[in-house]
Amino acid sequence: MVNTSVELLGLTLSNPVIPASGTFGFGYEFADWYDINILGSISFKGTTKEPRFGNPTPRIAETASGMLNSVGLQNPGVHAVISEELPKLQKVYSKPVIANVSGFSIDEYVYCCELMDSAPQVGIIEVNISCPNVHNGGLSFGTLPASAAEVTRAVKAVTKKPVIMKLSPNVTDICEIARACEDAGADGVSLINTLMGMRIDLKRRCPILKNTTGGLSGPAVFPVALRMVYQVYSAVNIPIIGMGGVSSAEDVIEMMLAGASAVQVGAANLVNPYACRDIINALPAAMEKYGIDSLESIIGGAH
Ligand code: FUM
Repeated sequence: MVNTSVELLGLTLSNPVIPASGTFGFGYEFADWYDINILGSISFKGTTKEPRFGNPTPRIAETASGMLNSVGLQNPGVHAVISEELPKLQKVYSKPVIANVSGFSIDEYVYCCELMDSAPQVGIIEVNISCPNVHNGGLSFGTLPASAAEVTRAVKAVTKKPVIMKLSPNVTDICEIARACEDAGADGVSLINTLMGMRIDLKRRCPILKNTTGGLSGPAVFPVALRMVYQVYSAVNIPIIGMGGVSSAEDVIEMMLAGASAVQVGAANLVNPYACRDIINALPAAMEKYGIDSLESIIGGAH
């Protein structure tokens, strides 16, 4: 009998598989399809202070082995998330969840984190400083060590819950950003968010996405994500949640060997709503195949 459980910042997860923010709604939407309590945790839809309709359409484009999105942080706003979405999730999911928050100023990050701190269901706060699809926020905080550290310090000051900073791959040196977050007090980092890309409509001779650019995700980015998790593992001493194109139990194991303590599954949910369930179900056989008794024991094992 293999052991799939992992420890993450004081939480014991029955397995390391967590649907990634923006690909699984607020979780309850999937509860009619399968018992979502099998999930290690859920990182719910990125939440901002005010409600957001998101970017104009088209905001999705297909790519080889992946997709581009320029959703633009569509969400009902932090107050509606806490008063309406989390109670719906609580009815069908009994484990602690990960609150993914975004902002357009330090004050907005602080505002959202302070509110999430008092939400009992929230076990970890994931602070998104890496959204490539909005201006004057998100990514602009995550591309410089100083601003990444500034957000980290500000949110750590208003919450007692563990804070994970979600990092962008669209930087010269992701290790430098990860170290800045760690030095500023981050309890963990999650990586990678999407890679900025674009497609052009050949008939109309203009960008397919109304926002011109979008974030690339899906199996195409897995080797890039894996490389970055591997590098960041050597650079910091805080836990890493690995993500980026994870689509199978074998991908989860690779991510953990690279250094991830837990693994988020994103674009795969948009192709197959059962993706997380299927990966969790496949984990024991994949572990046995590679002689792994305990997932916890393989974290960073490829170093
Ligand atoms: O556009 C979006 O909502 C994407 C967010 C993200 O990648 O962080």
